[in-house]
Amino acid sequence: SKARRSSLRGRAILGDFFHAPTVGTLAVLFDTLIILDDEGRIIDVLGPDAPERSMAEAAMGERILRLPRGTYGLPGFVDLHVHAPQYPQLGLALDKPLEVWLNAYTFPLEAQYADLDLAEKRYRVLVEDLLANGTTTALYFATQHVEASALLADLCLELGQRALVGKVAMDDPASCPDYYRDADAETAIEGTRAVIDHIRSHPDNGEGRVLPVVTPRFTPSCSEAALEGLGALAREYGCHIQTHCSESDWAHGHALSRFGKTDAEALDGFGLLTRHTVLAHANFLDNTDMDRVSSRGSGVAHCALSNIYFANSVFPLREALERQVRVGLGTDISGGPSRSMFDACLTTVRSSRMLEEGVDPALPKDRRGRPNSAVDLVTAFHLATAGGADVLDLPVGRLEKGCRFDVVLIDASARAGGIRLFETVAPEAIFEKIIHGATRANISSVFVDGYEVAGTAAIADGPTR
Ligand code: GUN
Ligand code: FE
Repeated sequence: SKARRSSLRGRAILGDFFHAPTVGTLAVLFDTLIILDDEGRIIDVLGPDAPERSMAEAAMGERILRLPRGTYGLPGFVDLHVHAPQYPQLGLALDKPLEVWLNAYTFPLEAQYADLDLAEKRYRVLVEDLLANGTTTALYFATQHVEASALLADLCLELGQRALVGKVAMDDPASCPDYYRDADAETAIEGTRAVIDHIRSHPDNGEGRVLPVVTPRFTPSCSEAALEGLGALAREYGCHIQTHCSESDWAHGHALSRFGKTDAEALDGFGLLTRHTVLAHANFLDNTDMDRVSSRGSGVAHCALSNIYFANSVFPLREALERQVRVGLGTDISGGPSRSMFDACLTTVRSSRMLEEGVDPALPKDRRGRPNSAVDLVTAFHLATAGGADVLDLPVGRLEKGCRFDVVLIDASARAGGIRLFETVAPEAIFEKIIHGATRANISSVFVDGYEVAGTAAIADGPTR
């Protein structure tokens, strides 16, 4: 995959694109010329009626990649919550409660990453697979180990994924096993610092495509000294923070009994709710918590599929959006059994529909659900792209001037399978069919920062129509 580094930098691409710049809005950019600068940034988006279009087309000449008919471009996905070391257990052990699953399956698996050869093999497969599935940006929990966490960042740089990587901080002997934890708060904090320094000073990271993240696993796994120190470290470095918040009844209750306050309020007290914080799950935030998260500018990684298994719950997504909480989507590999962000979109829609109130006013009032819960497919797709980018403050997720060219090309022809368009011609309907039917086999090309980094066809250098 290192060999395949075709590039659209300093070139242009002409074809049919979709993006969802705001909640509920699908923008259709058909017959559109997207022009990139030498660093992979979009500098112009010219539709068929743009006055400069024919001039630009003539000027770019041979440097235009013309997409075949039946191929559609979308912004690459932003997966806001991935446990990189858990990929080998994707699809396994989903019938256990969270606290049992962690101790019986997950901690023993993560502890294996003390072995760097094993870590390198597994992480390489993960990053390649996520790119091939259209995930151009991933927010990763690595493991407790400093070296293996640094290695995951190195692999993202090598393989061309945009990523945020955090060494997991977990030092509390009350809930972390002796064989897999930081020795004390100091170790957790200094290990985190070492990985931040490694990522920031990496010679191949001049463009800052890989970023460090302060990562207290969740409040139950951290001492108060560690939580306090990690809050201070994130302030010192001005870097991102990620953690799990009020994921399950057990985790939510743990904070209430330990701190006498909610998980979100406790995190806030440790300086861990910032404009650069991503809270995974956040299922049991009450309205006061939501307003607190919103006023701090923190975001939520909504992991709809994982929430079904480990929280028996649906995050009140609509409520959060109405309270101005910033939200993106996450797979939570391996808490959720799918690595596909298409699946994350579909599960977001489906679970929101299950939370929605029944429609017949004659039914008894206590039957189920809450009114105004359902979200549509375009909103889910927005959250999986632009929404996640906004949570991270990254210039990706939209096909607009100033954004980096992080794009997936979908081959919707019968040859690639999965999607059958029949006589479908309405652009909105083509979009719906893509999100419902596309799999890895339909992803012909994946670009990050203008470089082609994955896909079933090396299209940037290949013949065009
Ligand atoms: N809470 C603490 N650790 C984890 C984890 O690895 N996965 C999930 N889903 N929740 C957690
Ligand atoms: Fe998780």
